[in-house]
Amino acid sequence: MIHSLIASAFRHQAARSMRLVPSTGVAAVPAAPVFLYVHVPFCEVLCPFCSFHRVKHRDDKARSYFAALRKEIRHYHDRGFRFSGVYVGGGTPTVDPAELCETLALLQEFSPIDDISVETNPKDLRPAVLDRLAAVGVQRLSVGVQSFDDGLLREMDRYEKYGSSTEIRERLAYAASRFRTLNVDMIYNLPHQTEAMLEADLDAVLAGPANQVSFYPLMTSAAVERKMGKVMGLPDRSRLRRYYGRVLARLRPEFTASSAWCFNRGGHGIDEYVVQSPEYVGLGSGAFGNLGGRVYASTFSLRSYVERIERGFSGVTGERALGPREQMRYDLLMRLFGLRLEKSWVRARYGPRFERSLWPELTALQVFGAVVEDDTAWCLTDRGMFLWVLMMSAFFESVNEFRAQMRAQIAAELEEDEDDAVAVVPLGAIGHRA
Ligand SMILES: C[S@@+](CC[C@H](N)C(=O)[O-])C[C@H]1O[C@@H](n2cnc3c(N)ncnc32)[C@H](O)[C@@H]1O
Ligand code: SF4
Repeated sequence: MIHSLIASAFRHQAARSMRLVPSTGVAAVPAAPVFLYVHVPFCEVLCPFCSFHRVKHRDDKARSYFAALRKEIRHYHDRGFRFSGVYVGGGTPTVDPAELCETLALLQEFSPIDDISVETNPKDLRPAVLDRLAAVGVQRLSVGVQSFDDGLLREMDRYEKYGSSTEIRERLAYAASRFRTLNVDMIYNLPHQTEAMLEADLDAVLAGPANQVSFYPLMTSAAVERKMGKVMGLPDRSRLRRYYGRVLARLRPEFTASSAWCFNRGGHGIDEYVVQSPEYVGLGSGAFGNLGGRVYASTFSLRSYVERIERGFSGVTGERALGPREQMRYDLLMRLFGLRLEKSWVRARYGPRFERSLWPELTALQVFGAVVEDDTAWCLTDRGMFLWVLMMSAFFESVNEFRAQMRAQIAAELEEDEDDAVAVVPLGAIGHRA
């Protein structure tokens, strides 16, 4: 109950922080290399539960989009930006492996990058794609599995295009040894997911080859719920704590939590960039960035994105300056999401201001039993981990609402894209040989 109250108060604050004003692009060039997020919004099938900015894949559109991305990357490089790591998210970045790899090769040519993560779906775990990704230096592959239950996969409209549970297991086994980190994305609290189904998903993850798993609670927005409600039903939030308790109980001790919803086994994997990198540049339509005390968002219209880049403008169209306290609270949220906030880290970044400004939050979290403090850090307890699941869900749901508003403004373009999307090849016709 108290968890939900705190999360609900936080939800209002998170929604306020998504009010952006028009922007002409990222102003400051950071002195040190910065993390890069690249958004590739294309997918073969648009899953009804998905809250990300994604459109139906079409070859010609993807080609001109990737060309614009490379131009934007060149532009940032020419301005003096250097990148410490790259996360390519979507959508499904591997819809056009040749274009994706040309883009990653360009980044590698500018300066070698060791930390490259790419999101994909089970269908793309085949030699023609994986060989190319490995060759261009991808170290972490993140595969959207969602569930190993065939009934739930059908409800999510993934069974036909992205594979049955058996096919997914085979493909994961094939991909496993090729990347330093193989992450599987799972979702719990899907509307028709019983506790037995969740246990079976946990069995499959424990028996499977992935050395990292991200177990997300189902997060929605009003727009997602409208779509999802028709085909999948609506989530029952009252089960969330029990289901999360099962995730923690089953994954430990084989996996070690590296955030409130990401778990690694066999040493350290590469984690979510929002935890590791307080600042990052976001490129591509619908991407967010966080740099020099400002949050940035790029246009959600793919047409406008390509046009702007071709004409030499930035893809960024919205921004918001974060106040000093807001920045500190953002760091508190993200660092504790990663389970540990080092005192040396905040002191180097903010000096004594951090503790002076955020003592009410830090005290309340300790009184509530969500955080414990020692000489070197504040650490999340198990109670705190569940609170963080709720707060991060509230945070991402406010981002989802923002995406939904942006997408509503380009509804005509999105509808047109869906109408003329090409038919895609069914999974069965592809097999494991390229
Ligand atoms: C942008 S997708 C990329 C993966 C790839 N497109 C796929 O679906 O196979 C990243 C992950 O976000 C998660 N996701 C998408 N919508 C979600 C939602 N409404 N709630 C929770 N997680 C969600 C899924 O687990 C998904 O694998
Ligand atoms: S879950 Fe993945 S495949 Fe499905 S629509 Fe979202 S980004 Fe695309």
